[in-house]
Amino acid sequence: MATIGFPFTELASIDSTNNYAMAMAHEGLATHGAAFFAHEQTAGRGQLGRQWKTTALENIMLSLVLKPSELLVSRQFFLSAAIAAGCYDFLKKYAIDDVAVKWPNDIYWRDRKAGGILIENVLTGNNWQFAIVGIGLNINQTVFAEGVTNPVSLKQITGKTFPTVEMAKELCNCLQKRYDLLFSAPLQETLDNYNSILYKRGQKVKLKKDIAVFETIIKGVNEQGKLMTFDTMEREFSLGEVSLVV
Ligand code: BTN
Repeated sequence: MATIGFPFTELASIDSTNNYAMAMAHEGLATHGAAFFAHEQTAGRGQLGRQWKTTALENIMLSLVLKPSELLVSRQFFLSAAIAAGCYDFLKKYAIDDVAVKWPNDIYWRDRKAGGILIENVLTGNNWQFAIVGIGLNINQTVFAEGVTNPVSLKQITGKTFPTVEMAKELCNCLQKRYDLLFSAPLQETLDNYNSILYKRGQKVKLKKDIAVFETIIKGVNEQGKLMTFDTMEREFSLGEVSLVV
């Protein structure tokens, strides 16, 4: 099977690598593993319709075309969990400690966000055509736009400057390992791995739902990707339903 990160295309400036990778995949010009790296994004997109604003030349802005055809469409969250774990492995190599995945797939160092993932799936009925996996990781940026909540970069964590293209290729290797595991081990293992690196797992947190704020303990994430918590009762939340109050 083709390897994640091959071919690796560098783009000087683009609206969004996810848009570009999506167009390439739709046109049949990108096969499984193809990677699109941008030195600059002019209209980067984040989860829940948010913008992803990062400075040119300083970060990883990468989109991958994946064809996880062996994975049932109903198991979409497992792909997301494997990708988050791959990003975790990558960051942990350099940041060493205090790396975690904040539900659903923010890459955290301590209480700050070092990166995020935006996966866009293209399905035909029950068949997976492809997934566009967009990853933004803060590498050398030290000044962030106003409104970006709790950002941190690898440079801020380590004091060092890193070559972004080489780092993106290294990230692809980390993702390949977790992707291989997704298909070689029982699916439960991918979920267990994800839960073992989940931010604030087993801890009491404040969650906000609509205008209500309540305390609960994070139990983990289930196979549908829902956040499970417990307090006076067990609860389950879908993406976008609650946010963490810090
Ligand atoms: C998030 O945390 O909200 C997800 C951010 C994902 C950003 C990346 S950068 C590369 C790719 N292209 C995009 O437009 N978005 C993703």
